[in-house]
Amino acid sequence: MRAQINQHNYRYHVLDEPVVSDAEYDALLRRLQALEQQYPALISSDSPTQRVGSAPLQQFGQVRHDVPMLSLDNAFDDEELLAFDRRLKERIGSDSAIEYACEPKLDGIAVSLLYENGSLIRGATRGDGSTGEDITHNVRTIDSVPLTLLGSGYPEVLEVRGEIYMPRAGFASLNERARESGDKVFVNPRNAAAGSLRQLDSRITAQRPLQMCCYSVGRVDRGQLPERHSAILDCLNEWGLRINAESAIVTSIEGCLEYYRQLAVRRDELPYDIDGIVFKVNAIALQQTLGFVSRAPRWAIARKFPAQEQSTRLLDVEFQVGRTGAITPVARLEPVFVGGVTVSNATLHNRDEIERLGLEIGDEVLVRRAGDVIPQVVSVNLERRAAGSRAITFPERCPVCDSALVQAEGEAVIRCGGGLVCAAQQKEAIKHYASRRALDIEGLGDKLVEQLVDAGLVSSVADLYQLSVADLSELERMGPRSAANLVTAIAASRETSLARFVYALGIREVGEATALSLAQHFGSWEALQGATEERLLQVPDVGPVVADYLRQFFDTVENLTVVKALREAGVSWPDLVQTPAADQPLAGETWVVTGTLETMTRDQAKALLQGYGAKVAASVSAKTSCLVAGPGAGSKLTKAEKLGVTVIDETALQTLLERDFKD
Ligand code: IVH
Repeated sequence: MRAQINQHNYRYHVLDEPVVSDAEYDALLRRLQALEQQYPALISSDSPTQRVGSAPLQQFGQVRHDVPMLSLDNAFDDEELLAFDRRLKERIGSDSAIEYACEPKLDGIAVSLLYENGSLIRGATRGDGSTGEDITHNVRTIDSVPLTLLGSGYPEVLEVRGEIYMPRAGFASLNERARESGDKVFVNPRNAAAGSLRQLDSRITAQRPLQMCCYSVGRVDRGQLPERHSAILDCLNEWGLRINAESAIVTSIEGCLEYYRQLAVRRDELPYDIDGIVFKVNAIALQQTLGFVSRAPRWAIARKFPAQEQSTRLLDVEFQVGRTGAITPVARLEPVFVGGVTVSNATLHNRDEIERLGLEIGDEVLVRRAGDVIPQVVSVNLERRAAGSRAITFPERCPVCDSALVQAEGEAVIRCGGGLVCAAQQKEAIKHYASRRALDIEGLGDKLVEQLVDAGLVSSVADLYQLSVADLSELERMGPRSAANLVTAIAASRETSLARFVYALGIREVGEATALSLAQHFGSWEALQGATEERLLQVPDVGPVVADYLRQFFDTVENLTVVKALREAGVSWPDLVQTPAADQPLAGETWVVTGTLETMTRDQAKALLQGYGAKVAASVSAKTSCLVAGPGAGSKLTKAEKLGVTVIDETALQTLLERDFKD
């Protein structure tokens, strides 16, 4: 059973290709737990039940690295990268192109894992490179760290090196929870990973969303590894360790430049922070010839990306009212170049956050922008507080409609209690309704919505369908032709799908994927609106919080009035006949999405595919049914081609979804 569970763990956490449902996995684990409770003498330290963490340590032990853990030289532009390649060629005395392994430089904590006869016996931090801290108790709790290696053929002593990091999504939810409960908020995923690993109590580490990704080996005794770096990584992967799916091999330095360019474009889409690309000479023999200089190998270099954190000055704070009435303080900043773009606004989340930061207007602040998330103010430099700095006053009433503010118990968010009376909430609701993924009303942009509400022409989405060309012509800069076009576009939006409609209503926490699940599950508006909390909870994707928001929405008369008015105005969709899972067009298939998509994000593509019954995996294998590859697709595409897996592009995906499966 342990072997079986370990295999499932590997498929889930290392390959992202589970073969059993979460429920089946949990049942297996529970059976093992029960057995072990009955026969405690049979519990082994590498049992998958032993990952939960153990009683706190007094202090960390010290670990000496037999093979020092080095750092890397940096290159800040293409010229420095080319110079690196020229240096190597001069040293080797040959002008032939060098083969390089390319890997994202993960921004986490370097660690060493020591396996003896396949058992994990020690985990350590890098420390100063020759002595680190013993964090065995903590690394054991990380699901992507195998407690025993899988398969066979590994050296008797194998020290694996890599990075422990926190994916962005896990970091965001960890901080969100911390903000709500008033716990420590981490500045960035790297600090969160470091803080999580430096816990004396491994039960805390066990709750943190950490991952391990391997990039090299240290000590290797009594065993043979392949002669190329990339092949060594493939071995590690077969033995149960996670490696980076973006890794690639190129045949010359020009290939490195190209790899950098492609990944730079996709940096924001990756689920984790990277601060550059590492290029390594792929042939181990050549690595050995080249050797080391002081603390870094000659055979590797890190090409750095623009920093994701920068200092700037807080000029002012404004308070915005969102679709659900949430009042969000927004920092107006002296423009600063960070994470590849110029940032002049950042979110301050809520009042507690301003207090936590101890922020005042005029302060020097550290701004972080990573991925496509909204820039954040992560800390204040109190040492450089200006003499003229002044405190921030949170408004006492809604800055837009002057309604009283409300704060739900246990929530950090402060909301305007004005509901749909509040012009700000009206505007946001209408913008959302008209947006591309909702009812997609062409030409009804944010500015126009604001004009319409300010002019008193609309106050709810239902009013849109009553607008005439004459009404619209009253607006500034609105000619008769654009007015007519807009009326036509609004009319055209009447024909939609239940999923889009549900999404367009802007119910809290109901995103596109949830709306799709709801539509597919209930098939009609009536069935959905009448569903009890219990029935809502049967929908995949819907937990108690979402079920509660849905019921709240359906129990509010004003909302039902708007829905009724919309349907009377002719908004309609074909009712779906409920299809049992096995009848879904893509049931039983495993799809993978890679590269950049133009009309949707990869997550949206995933949700769509899942909606049609497909399983969506993160990596390509012989079991993959189809790979959707956008521009910039890398190793996954190569692998799919090698395995003869069907590859389609975004246009083909759209045609397929529209032609074969709609209605
Ligand atoms: S190789 C001898 N590969 O970057 C080679 N390092 O400045 C040593 N890092 O502390 C490292 N991703 O933690 C290597 N794919 C990767 C990496 C990587 C992140 C970190 C590593 C080290 C630092 C080097």
